[in-house]
Amino acid sequence: MKIARSKTELRTALEAARRDGKTIGLVPTMGYLHDGHLSLLHAARARCDLVVMSLFVNPAQFAPSEDLASYPRDEVRDLELAERAGVDVVFAPPVDTVYPEGFATAVEVGGGLTDVLDGASGQRGAAHFRGVTTVVAKLFNSVGPDVAYFGQKDAQQAIVIRRMVRDLDFPVEIEVLPTVREPDGLAISSRNAYLDPGDRQRAAGLSRALRAAEAVAASGEDRIEPALEAARAELERAGIEAEYLEARDPESLAEVETLNGRPVLIAVAARVGAARLIDNTLIGDSA
Ligand code: PAJ
Repeated sequence: MKIARSKTELRTALEAARRDGKTIGLVPTMGYLHDGHLSLLHAARARCDLVVMSLFVNPAQFAPSEDLASYPRDEVRDLELAERAGVDVVFAPPVDTVYPEGFATAVEVGGGLTDVLDGASGQRGAAHFRGVTTVVAKLFNSVGPDVAYFGQKDAQQAIVIRRMVRDLDFPVEIEVLPTVREPDGLAISSRNAYLDPGDRQRAAGLSRALRAAEAVAASGEDRIEPALEAARAELERAGIEAEYLEARDPESLAEVETLNGRPVLIAVAARVGAARLIDNTLIGDSA
């Protein structure tokens, strides 16, 4: 496994594969790898000739009030796990390689995709997604992947990236893989490291709330409100106050009130102890 710290090292590491027309898969991460990241790496390994993982805690997607300084990091362990997962190249640049002095450009997706849910002004805000799309656009340009892998855990992020790729003609296929969960349903996240044992137990309420919404939809109820009501009740039982719990169209992120035979994204965010957690599900998907 090669570790590239600069764009030149990255180019050198990819040269032969590119020349030989090999399929390049990219898995962008902020490190502190867990089973969610590993599922993306395994999917990339299964399909692509060359697997590139980026490891970069992207300052541009953290608001000043957020956890950039305390975001968990363990590069030694990450490199070990990446190697074991069959990664060929890890791109782990320092901040000033990605954002050199005078950096003044951003990629921003509009269309109502980045100012709702996590992008709403009381939440992380649209600047969060501007930070994500800017860094992901740079990674796509530096790596030139044929396929890039993202997790459904960050559903809105995946939707925003798909739109960026479509709108800006990035020649890359986006694969979105299911959320990997702990046995009690909690979606795995690097930020789960912030949970103390009591909060960790409480946090499972988020996924129970989503399961409750799914159950209402599966019972044949077409209206979304009863599903949201069931989810709210489950959150309350767990003592979790949601920052948002909303039903949205999984492509346009427009608000929806009925199922109409199309899947609907139910997305939730909540502060549990020291962590801000997000989770989501698609309801009305299987019936
Ligand atoms: P990070 O939070 O490290 O996540 C990297 C990738 O892993 C994302 O695509 C995310 O959706 C996916 N992922 C996280 N938890 C998951 C889980 N439980 N199951 C499945 N996939 C999961 O998301 C980012 O980093 C950054 O925003 C990034 C895209 C790297 C841009 O900086």
